[in-house]
Amino acid sequence: MTTLGIDTSCDDTSVSVMRDGVVLSNIVCSQMVHSDYGGVVPELASRDHIKNILPATQKALEDTGLSLKDIDGIGATYGPGLPGSLLIGISFAKSISISLDIPFIGINHLCAHIFSLFIEGETGFPILVLLVSGGHTELVLVSEDRSCRLFGTTLDDACGEAFDKVAGMLGLPYPGGVEIEKLAENGTRDAIRFPRPRVSGYNFSFSGLKTAVLYYLKKNPPDRKAMSDIAASFQEACVDSLTSTTFILAEKLEVKRIGVCGGVARNRRLRERFVQEDYEIVFPSYELCTDNGAMVAKCAEWYLKKGITSDLSLKTEPSLRL
Ligand code: KG4
Ligand code: ZN
Repeated sequence: MTTLGIDTSCDDTSVSVMRDGVVLSNIVCSQMVHSDYGGVVPELASRDHIKNILPATQKALEDTGLSLKDIDGIGATYGPGLPGSLLIGISFAKSISISLDIPFIGINHLCAHIFSLFIEGETGFPILVLLVSGGHTELVLVSEDRSCRLFGTTLDDACGEAFDKVAGMLGLPYPGGVEIEKLAENGTRDAIRFPRPRVSGYNFSFSGLKTAVLYYLKKNPPDRKAMSDIAASFQEACVDSLTSTTFILAEKLEVKRIGVCGGVARNRRLRERFVQEDYEIVFPSYELCTDNGAMVAKCAEWYLKKGITSDLSLKTEPSLRL
């Protein structure tokens, strides 16, 4: 079975071709236009998706030597995400579906991130998944039939969003997660004791931590070394919060397998802190952590094999949940 997966949920135009679970191509056109604004500008994102989607699809096919007539089904993200961006992806996918008379499957972006854990090998089940990205911080128990039970979410900012905002405060470009990580390499993790917010249940909160960094910066205008210490101390507070809540829940559920996915799962300190513990830990490879079409194709393939497809009347759902 050959599947095309398209993700245009935010600021990356991503298209992938997958055959029987194997990624044959995975094109990601990252939009640089937003770095001047310190965050994603929705209208500019939509305009870039319109420009990129056809060349990205052509390139994804070219890289495999296949053509559109070899595709058995097409999946596209219909939510959550930016309304205009989502609309471009699903309209494009629906038009291919109509013209080739192949099934269209609307994919939940959060499910796609979870499926990124299953692309490079089988994991066992159940698996407790920490999905940690620019828009979401979710703790989900995933069973073998891929059903999901949500145990925790962020009560305010997503973790990646906090990384991006703190990067902005430090004068670093957007997206800021990787920039904080680089800066933190030369910093001392316990230089500043930023708060580790405790909230109800297995939820997360990052806005207090972000504000603590803001106040610290106002009181202590930093030089280069102090900036590295702030980055390292902030990163450590995020990692503490993510790992401790995940491990407490894993213990309660008596689950020995943990998956970590989403853009922030690229963070090396986060990976290091997870693998130190007595659990089987699964991470997607670096390219599959941030938004990509392969995770959408993987999800679409799963549905297609079960005979599940979407109606062409499917609308975008910008606030879609798991
Ligand atoms: O999954 P993703 O591509 O998009 C969403 O669905 O949100 O995640 C993007 C997020 C951004 O907030 C970015 O700053 C963060 O992932 N990120 C990182 C790192 N690389 C990307 N955060 C921390 N450390 C990194 N190395
Ligand atoms: Zn994402």
